[in-house]
Amino acid sequence: MAEIRVALGQRSYPVLVQQGLARRIPEVLERVAPSKRYFVFADGNVWSHYFDIIPSKDPRYVTFAVPPGEGSKSIETLYSFWTFLLQNGVERGHVAVAIGGGVVGDAAGFAAATVLRGIRLVQVPTSLLAQVDASIGGKTGINHPLGKNLIGAFYQPVAVIIDPAFLRTLPESEFQSGMYEVIKYALIEKNGLYERLMDFAWSRTSDMTAVIELCAQCKAHVVAGDEMEAERRMILNFGHTVGHAIEAAGGFKQLKHGQAVGWGILFAARLSRAMGICDRLTEDAIGRLLYRNGALPKLSYPPAMLVELMRHDKKVRDGRFTFVLPKRIGEVVIRKGIEEDWVQRQLEEFYREVGG
Ligand code: GLY
Repeated sequence: MAEIRVALGQRSYPVLVQQGLARRIPEVLERVAPSKRYFVFADGNVWSHYFDIIPSKDPRYVTFAVPPGEGSKSIETLYSFWTFLLQNGVERGHVAVAIGGGVVGDAAGFAAATVLRGIRLVQVPTSLLAQVDASIGGKTGINHPLGKNLIGAFYQPVAVIIDPAFLRTLPESEFQSGMYEVIKYALIEKNGLYERLMDFAWSRTSDMTAVIELCAQCKAHVVAGDEMEAERRMILNFGHTVGHAIEAAGGFKQLKHGQAVGWGILFAARLSRAMGICDRLTEDAIGRLLYRNGALPKLSYPPAMLVELMRHDKKVRDGRFTFVLPKRIGEVVIRKGIEEDWVQRQLEEFYREVGG
């Protein structure tokens, strides 16, 4: 079993990756987070396939089936999590276990961070997106109508348990969405992932263990170096400045997170070339890599609307935008203070080029 350490002093924790690990969850929990009670928050769809991974007759486990979908990253769902925890006698020494994709991990993680001022949290990500990104690094929270992830806390889990076998029952569209985050990792650092993706079958039936491990290693060391995103961790937002605005423009329903990030990466590559940071060859190589993951859905939101939504992003200071821009394959730079009007003009040109 691969054990990747997120090195944060006394709050360090392991990311465990192995095929079939889900079948050993009770044993792994005993080791990484011994407790008299486990509050399991499981995505309803995942639960219908995998309800037997938690011992149903063991009174130490109490389970909440979370309605699937981004709608669960809401204040109403969070409130129902708090009520569930309190009604079932939660104590400081107990453990919350989040089984599902980024939605469950983020919302249940925030419930764990806030109930009784914090109980231990174990992440069991089941979507590709959560396995390679959302479950590692301690970002928890919910959405607000004004934007994604605007309410939340940095709250590190005590362990992350990843079983690539979960991906076998993941819908193909969710797999494709997660692969855009994988592409992000291949482009932000030289870690062997870009070369691996050149020979990749781009199918959820592929063995994803090595790919997940490479992403987790990259995430673990970026987070260890800058837990609270003072600077370097921002590179993980590559593709997300415009990506979050695209998601918000569609009410978090029209495009999947990964697809929005895919557009965001393409636009960042275009901005980068316009600013003379990367050359045309790099921009084209990024476009080709994204294309291998399938076509992106057409964009129909006016550039002015995206710019307005970007103003609510956490990355905005004094009306100026911060972008993570590719320099070459495996290297990005953080550029702050980019003028809003200029970004809007670039978006308008980008739309003309890609036929949006
Ligand atoms: N998903 C970006 C980060 O965790 O910082």
